[in-house]
Amino acid sequence: MTTRKIIAHRGLPTLAPENTQRTFNKLLDYNIDWFETDLSITKDAQAVILHDDNLERTTDTTGLITEKTTAELTEVSNGAWFSPEFAQERILTLIQLIDFLNQNKLNVNIELKSVIGTFANDLANELVSQLVQALKLLDTQINVIVSSFNPLMIAKFKALDTTTPTALLFSQNSLQADWDFYMQALDTKIIHPQSEGLTKEKVQTIKDHGYDLNVWTVDRIDRANQLFNWGVDGVITNIAQNMPQIQAKTPR
Ligand code: G3P
Ligand code: MG
Repeated sequence: MTTRKIIAHRGLPTLAPENTQRTFNKLLDYNIDWFETDLSITKDAQAVILHDDNLERTTDTTGLITEKTTAELTEVSNGAWFSPEFAQERILTLIQLIDFLNQNKLNVNIELKSVIGTFANDLANELVSQLVQALKLLDTQINVIVSSFNPLMIAKFKALDTTTPTALLFSQNSLQADWDFYMQALDTKIIHPQSEGLTKEKVQTIKDHGYDLNVWTVDRIDRANQLFNWGVDGVITNIAQNMPQIQAKTPR
């Protein structure tokens, strides 16, 4: 028997705007117990939940998140782009996320975004430090994975927190011959490869190396079933609400 983990990507982003309180609340309606979210940081070093470096796509303002202060973001809508119904959604802070997790006992995959801009290294250190402190506030029954495409962000995190499981993200292009070098160098036991181009043979090789795999972003039920039949441990999906039927444990 194997666990088929369904990880809701940025919440339920087809039902409510990604990475907002309203989309996370919807996870409760569908009894979804794992979700993925993205962690970034403001100019004045407030850790916040946002996917893009730039605010243009998901808010009603422009510019880099690392060039905005918390005060400047107070009135910024993080949901109007999706529908007027969500115009009051604001960019969540890490602390608000932690409160939500503790209240609802959901498991979370927190993706550490790369930090860009003039003070990128200082802000990256601050981001990782705040995450480590915040995780100490979490109820112990909550499962956490800290992931990143950026090996340096994982290295910074592991320097401060040696117990929380970490995962390294790979795109189809970056999953090259040196993938295991990165995994071993970081002492990371979970790999998050892109679904596109991922083959049964590659999944088997990764499993043979002893790693857990959660695959992104899997928005077709037949592909999710195929991946699970190949032995992947989880899929990260934009349509977790449509996947309860494959969450049942079945013989491999
Ligand atoms: O963690 C999986 C997925 O979120 C990685 O890509 O760009 O959606 O953060 P992205
Ligand atoms: Mg992400």
